[in-house]
Amino acid sequence: MKTINTNLQSTNCITSNQYTLDNLLNLCKLTDNIKNIASTKEGLQYLKSLLPHKRAILYFKQASTRTFLSFQNACSILGISTSDVRDTSTSSEMKGETELDAIKTFSQYTDLIIMRHPDSEFIYEVSDCLNNLSNNTRLINAGSGSNEHPTQALLDFYTMYKYGLLEGKKIAFVGDLFRSRAVRSLALLLNKVSGTKLYFIAPEKYQIKNDILQQLNIDYELTDNIEKVLPEVDVVYMVRLQDEYKGFWNGEDFIDTKRYSINKNNINTLKENAIILHPLPRRNEISIEIDKNHRAKYWEQCQNGMWVRVALIADMFGIDKI
Ligand code: NCD
Repeated sequence: MKTINTNLQSTNCITSNQYTLDNLLNLCKLTDNIKNIASTKEGLQYLKSLLPHKRAILYFKQASTRTFLSFQNACSILGISTSDVRDTSTSSEMKGETELDAIKTFSQYTDLIIMRHPDSEFIYEVSDCLNNLSNNTRLINAGSGSNEHPTQALLDFYTMYKYGLLEGKKIAFVGDLFRSRAVRSLALLLNKVSGTKLYFIAPEKYQIKNDILQQLNIDYELTDNIEKVLPEVDVVYMVRLQDEYKGFWNGEDFIDTKRYSINKNNINTLKENAIILHPLPRRNEISIEIDKNHRAKYWEQCQNGMWVRVALIADMFGIDKI
């Protein structure tokens, strides 16, 4: 049994801004440790014995495949039982109950609320509400509108850590950066790593918003020139068109993925050791044929999501010694 003191010092996960570089590296080490233990049946049994006295609810008011399932499985790995509300047409919100009353109800039954919600600010309201109740229910932001997705950023960070692609490395984000909560949260985490340079590659109206740029202390560049940047970078982070959110502009909502994509024509312009990440789901910004290229790491990234979430939840309940 190894001791890793993650010192995340928080029982909630709300925003990328709450983490220091030390927290992040410790979380990566805890994740490695957990994955290692989980490689045997005895190890999995041990992990399941850690939190069988805890219950979690997944309150997901937006579509989800990976985030929902990886959290559900992460809880199961730790012995935490789960319930969920995904379709509020079957809950008392249908009878006019407010969302905050729904949250107060969840907190009567469970120790952890994992929430995805279309309103960017609601996570803060919920956090205040739970603090006022002071019944110790933990809260995880599993996506707050188009603003933040901190646990996605944690698993992205872990995947880059595994390939030694953090300090001093160049990372390009490509696609609809304007509405990508995954990109926004990851940029805030990478801001803690010295010497990284971020390239935001998008047509002008899809560029990342200023509120994120204003927080960056590291070097960054905004461009629409994907051809020029691809050969320079160590990580390419692709995102889809997030057209479930309004664009705040008139006219069509469309990015030319013939240009803003990774495909058989441009893949070999990337460095040999560069990696391609994507939070998924993808549309056509990464061709299927790229999946077998050695640089494609998005399925591994997807699996890392479950293990990072195991580590995060374990840590939130004070299990930093495994
Ligand atoms: C992302 C999300 O929901 O923000 N997906 C995810 O959580 N894996 C990105 C997306 O939906 O495009």
